[in-house]
Amino acid sequence: MVLSERDRQKIDDGDDSIFYDSPRFVTHADDAFIARLTELYMSVLAPGDRVFDAMSSWVSFLPPLSFERVVGHGLNEAELATNDRLDEYFLQDFNSDQSVPLADESVDAVCCALSVQYLQYPAEIFSEFARILAPDGIAVVSFTNRMFPTKAIHAWRTASMDERATLVERYFDAGGFERTERVVDQPGTDPFYAVVGHVA
Ligand SMILES: C[S@@+](CC[C@H](N)C(=O)[O-])C[C@H]1O[C@@H](n2cnc3c(N)ncnc32)[C@H](O)[C@@H]1O
Repeated sequence: MVLSERDRQKIDDGDDSIFYDSPRFVTHADDAFIARLTELYMSVLAPGDRVFDAMSSWVSFLPPLSFERVVGHGLNEAELATNDRLDEYFLQDFNSDQSVPLADESVDAVCCALSVQYLQYPAEIFSEFARILAPDGIAVVSFTNRMFPTKAIHAWRTASMDERATLVERYFDAGGFERTERVVDQPGTDPFYAVVGHVA
């Protein structure tokens, strides 16, 4: 098991949908982090890809490539409706329901930016990421040292940045991904961390 019951605990165990009920039209990392993330996406995505932006908001940080389809997911409808990179979106609390309503092998890439710390059942969610990815598909999970502390899981709050990267690598492993690469950088004030997972 990747996480114990204690690891999954959040300070605020209230309904996540209520916490995200009001839109936040802000960015959750500095401009240098965002530019580095877009650069990473540019290096692993291709025109025509089908992309799933999990735990998204009003911005996806995707590079100016023409994708076949971008599906977004999150908890705030006003944010997702404002995101002009999304062709469609759905709302779902991943801590209540871990089944992703997308078909097997239906996307080429999964993006999950600045949000993985809120998942209480990451093994199940990463298994779903692996299931919906087409052969040779990738998932990019990025994070920095910022968070809503009352909503991040205990295992995340108490870990160093490198331990967080190791945790995300364990999530990929538990989800059945074949291999991962860790990307660490300091483009500005906010440390840049990403783990790229590959399915077979
Ligand atoms: C810090 S924001 C990051 C949003 C976006 N990826 C970005 O980089 O701007 C965290 C996001 O995680 C998502 N989230 C948090 N808890 C969630 C949950 N239990 N189920 C689904 N999504 C959740 C919300 O959609 C929220 O917008």
